Amino acid sequence: MPHYFEPAGPVRADDLRPLDVVLAGAPAGVVTAPGVFSANRLDLGTSVLLRTEQRLGGPVPAAGRLLDLGCGWGPIALALARLAPDAEVWAVDVNPRALELTALNASRLGLGNVRTALPDAVAPGLAFDLLWSNPPIRVGKDALHGLLRRWLDRLRPDAHADLVTHKHLGADSLTTWLGAQPPWTAQKLASAKGYRVIRVTRAP
Ligand SMILES: C[S@@+](CC[C@H](N)C(=O)[O-])C[C@H]1O[C@@H](n2cnc3c(N)ncnc32)[C@H](O)[C@@H]1O
Repeated sequence: MPHYFEPAGPVRADDLRPLDVVLAGAPAGVVTAPGVFSANRLDLGTSVLLRTEQRLGGPVPAAGRLLDLGCGWGPIALALARLAPDAEVWAVDVNPRALELTALNASRLGLGNVRTALPDAVAPGLAFDLLWSNPPIRVGKDALHGLLRRWLDRLRPDAHADLVTHKHLGADSLTTWLGAQPPWTAQKLASAKGYRVIRVTRAP
């Protein structure tokens, strides 16, 4: 996935960069490294997603399995892990370096409830109670659609997914496409700074 990372190998100590962010309403000192998405800052789209969740998202399931699809260095998974310390938070990415950084950040923040995994390493029978994602739009429409279908199909019946994407990267057409994929329905939960947060639920 050259749009997101070049295979960079394991993170070395001198690759690590400290970054101070706010996750789930509290400061978090994390580390990032070259070769992962938004290594220098909390991505603006991710920030819009996390703020929207605080205002409008509704409760995060206190237990069960929560999924961050495309975790990067981990901001969404780490926020979920803070919000739901008794839940199991799965941070999934195709970039091994992203998984390594997410695991390192979870450990630095004392979050023992984060599991990191390559997509194919998640056992097929595992179902999720919530999905939050800043998905990899730049993989191309067909790959993105396949990816979203694959993981939406793993949501439990009452679960929903919240996805953030920029309007210039096709947020509105993605919402329309999602809403036309039975059994899903999709609507805009919020818009800010050019980003849309799309909520995907099972149609009644
Ligand atoms: C827009 S970035 C978001 C990263 C992180 N969640 C954040 O908010 O900073 C999308 C992530 O999806 C990952 N990705 C790309 N293709 C993927 C796939 N097929 N399955 C899972 N993750 C993928 C990329 O490596 C990248 O880390």
